[in-house]
Amino acid sequence: ANYTIVDQDTCIACGACGATAPEVFDYNDDGVAFSLLDDNKGNKQIPGEWLEDVEDAFEGCPTESIRLAEAPFEGDPNKFE
Ligand code: F3S
Repeated sequence: ANYTIVDQDTCIACGACGATAPEVFDYNDDGVAFSLLDDNKGNKQIPGEWLEDVEDAFEGCPTESIRLAEAPFEGDPNKFE
């Protein structure tokens, strides 16, 4: 799993991911999360030193809004669903 994106349609702004992986996830004005790596496009590889935090955030998201994949998402969180 080397790419990540947030499904902003299902994120409930719980705030967990940014606490777990602050280098990778931040929140917009509504508290909805996005990936800082490439403005939530899911196209930029997660730097190795942050991968474990992202995996923890993936497992901790209560709505499964954080996606991980081994290929770029091209802006679509549901690309591999
Ligand atoms: Fe949203 Fe899940 Fe993060 S609900 S704020 S993507 S932990």
